[in-house]
Amino acid sequence: MLNFELYNPTQLIFGKGQIEKLNTLIPQGTKILLAYGGGSIFKNGIHQQVIENLKGYEIVEFGGIEPNPHFETLMKAVEVIKAEKIDFILAVGGGSVIDGVKFISAAVNFNGNPIDILQKRILIKENAMPFGTILTLPATGSEMNSGYVVTIKATQEKLAAGGSALFPKFSICDPTVIQSLPKRQLENGVVDAFTHVMEQYLTYPHDGYLQDRIAEGILQTLIEVGPKVVEHPEDYALASNFMWCCTMALNGLIQKGVPSDWATHMIGHELTALYNIDHARTLAIIGPNLYRVLFEAKKAKLAQYGKRIFNLSGSEEEIAKEAIEKTVAFFHQMGMDTQLSQYTDDYSKTADFIVKRFEERGWKGLGENQQVTLEKVKSIVELSY
Ligand code: NZQ
Ligand code: ZN
Repeated sequence: MLNFELYNPTQLIFGKGQIEKLNTLIPQGTKILLAYGGGSIFKNGIHQQVIENLKGYEIVEFGGIEPNPHFETLMKAVEVIKAEKIDFILAVGGGSVIDGVKFISAAVNFNGNPIDILQKRILIKENAMPFGTILTLPATGSEMNSGYVVTIKATQEKLAAGGSALFPKFSICDPTVIQSLPKRQLENGVVDAFTHVMEQYLTYPHDGYLQDRIAEGILQTLIEVGPKVVEHPEDYALASNFMWCCTMALNGLIQKGVPSDWATHMIGHELTALYNIDHARTLAIIGPNLYRVLFEAKKAKLAQYGKRIFNLSGSEEEIAKEAIEKTVAFFHQMGMDTQLSQYTDDYSKTADFIVKRFEERGWKGLGENQQVTLEKVKSIVELSY
């Protein structure tokens, strides 16, 4: 097992009715920026619950953080925070609102041009504005990690960054909030969390036995509850397991002491930036083709995955190949289209465009062994057309 340090200061408050604890989590007298997205929290009653549980606090609202949050929008919130002398940010939403708030928290006290935080991927280790979250969409794990992804609209770049100062102080995860989610977002959540586990698991055999077993437990649970929860989001057993899987998939735990990949995400982010395809759907397009192109390097782990997750038998080669097909079948079952041409007609230059961008950024070798070269990126994207 590789050496590791584990630091995760987020206080997670999980379960039904837990939004009521909000006023015990933020000191009285704090001036709060209440940040949210396009308005779903008004339709499902979460906004009202939040306001009721924050009586006596001074609150300034900032709505309109869009899916795949824009740098340009978030900078408006930074201005509001400075003008209103805000002390604390409360993010109420899915991954986009929480990620957006992480960037706002980083940018408020940043000494320099905040766009550099994204473009130069500056780690924020201090001086961030404290924030908490109320999760409304299980998917990203952003409620319990310190990473975020922000889109610069002007340049059509979708960039990931983070830093140890950007963990939420607390996150309230009430599984009943998923009842108002459109089916498409529930499907996205299952596939995003599934792929988060795959990024940290599907590399090569190593001696992080426990990490593998935890990862496999999350994958099996998502396969068990995923197809059912999209039909029955009101079922608390399904909803709570789904939500906990999503958090556990990306709160840092399964990544400790083992190699990880993340190339599917890096390529997927480009598809969202170019075509505005939902994050999870870009992963369903790219993931299986990355496993195909990297087949020799990933064969042994694919075979372990095939045996333990899908009970496959045969030679290592046969199991590994079949495991990819089973993964695609699961994504289809979860409502995903898995070819780029099903989302856009304008795909013929995508591979060249992405390769050029990666080259400009100096990303010449992604993945667990830096073996996802620019040539392989091209093959993966072309195979995804
Ligand atoms: O904006 P509102 O009106 O709230 O509507 C949202 C949005 O339209 C809606 N929604 C959220 N909760 C709802 C709801 N509708 C009804 N009922 C509810 N309870 O769902 C839509 C999508 O929301 P969004 O936050 O964009 O989805 P998601 O949570 O999937 O987040 C995606 C973003 O997270 C990033 C992605 O790249 C993408 O930008 N990621 C962040 C990660 C991280 N921080 O660790 C890791 C991930 O890999 C991912 O990259
Ligand atoms: Zn993701």
